[in-house]
Amino acid sequence: MADVHTPFPEGFLWGAATSAYQVEGAATEDGKKPSQQDVINQNSYRDFGFATAEVASDHYHHFREDVALMKEMGFTCYRFSIAWSRVIPDGTGEVNQAGLAFYHDLVDALVEAGIEPIITLYHYDLPWALVERYGGWLSRQVVEDFEAYARLIITEFKDQVKLWTTINEQSIIVQYWTQKCYIPEDVLDDNQKRYQINHHMNLAHAIACKLVHELVPDGLVGAALGYAPVYPLTGKPADVMAAQNANDLRNLYYTDIYFKGIYTESAQIYLEEHGLAPVIEPGDMELIGDPAATSDFLALNYYASECARACPDDGTKEIRWGGVNRSGKKGEISGFETHPGFYEMCKNPELDTTDWDWAIDPVGMEYMLRDLYARYNKPLMITENGLGAYDTLTEDGKIHDDYRIDYLRQHIAAMKRAIDKGVEVIAYCPWSAVDLLSTSNGVKKRYGFIYVDRTDDDPKECARIRKDSFFWYQKVIASRGTDLD
Ligand code: BG6
Repeated sequence: MADVHTPFPEGFLWGAATSAYQVEGAATEDGKKPSQQDVINQNSYRDFGFATAEVASDHYHHFREDVALMKEMGFTCYRFSIAWSRVIPDGTGEVNQAGLAFYHDLVDALVEAGIEPIITLYHYDLPWALVERYGGWLSRQVVEDFEAYARLIITEFKDQVKLWTTINEQSIIVQYWTQKCYIPEDVLDDNQKRYQINHHMNLAHAIACKLVHELVPDGLVGAALGYAPVYPLTGKPADVMAAQNANDLRNLYYTDIYFKGIYTESAQIYLEEHGLAPVIEPGDMELIGDPAATSDFLALNYYASECARACPDDGTKEIRWGGVNRSGKKGEISGFETHPGFYEMCKNPELDTTDWDWAIDPVGMEYMLRDLYARYNKPLMITENGLGAYDTLTEDGKIHDDYRIDYLRQHIAAMKRAIDKGVEVIAYCPWSAVDLLSTSNGVKKRYGFIYVDRTDDDPKECARIRKDSFFWYQKVIASRGTDLD
């Protein structure tokens, strides 16, 4: 680990992140109607026994306590998302004033606590009504409806919120589309639709950027991207080339849109050759490339690096998408993304993993920050980073999560090394402030500084307990990152 002698820059934002459906609960309270995540998570409960989003961490009822705990930790920012189906329950039309009031109360409480709110407009939870009406993100109609929703939220909060992120993790939505979007049975084999959804999201992202620039005095906006740098499995030139192909399709295909307004050529050509490229209508690229739609920063969700090797198209392999580990036992990941003739993802033998097979690689964060800053020269934020782990509430009523402290310590040091090499990193929001509902593994895979006392089957009272990492992070923030011990 690097020596961290000098403090993080003045004004650097320290906080953490969550998303609406993963923490709020109150899924049908005060006028909220279901989102696609309510439906997807009911199915996960049925199929795997993972908790539903009905109660989640019950943040809806505990938010004042949660903000007080964030203040106690010393947070200067907090990233959270708005549930579209709480404020416009049918996706379009009538605004639910009670839903808006919840977010006003939350933002007021944060501002009063000296914590800068960072709003994410969309984090996987499209109103279910829009899925029923026209298939959700599968239809272009969603772009127009998103615009009306985004305009409402940005207008409501423009005076108190200056930092905005648009859509969470388009790259991960493409990879794991059935977890992140409700995809009907008859569309499941049509993989072009993954990239069509992404194209609709690019249009929605561009519109949201324009709205922030138009409506928010001094507002800054960018996407929150799930990003994993790709290493070649070996130094063989064919593996190095495969890693570049993977980086083009998995990473630059998104960042080039945000900063250059273009689809990365090599990736787009590969998609066209395989019938996967999105249909682009006249005017779309003009909107995406409009200077007013250019991102001011890039928010990065970094958990792990990835590894790729050459995959000749010799007719023995088919296109596959990212695998998942549902069991929480190392090595039980269901497979690796494969694009014959372009690349195949694989396990990196050099790195240890979490129990869910995510590679642990602090240097990967440094590498990502250096690489992206050199490419685009725009400020970067870390809006997610963390260790999903089993936590134990011990008899002394504590959670001794030294493994999480170790993970975060090494990543903060890596981020500092990037800053010391000139990279402009403006915020660190690890995942997550409080324990929450994982997108793929229920509530036993925990990320928070604040323990939420519940199980997959029983939400109990969702009591909050400070973990050891809570006190450690408090010290890190107070010392401006110099005390990582
Ligand atoms: C990111 C998402 O992909 O990773 C979060 O933005 C998610 O919503 C986090 O919770 C961790 O993933 P998981 O599947 O462990 O919850």
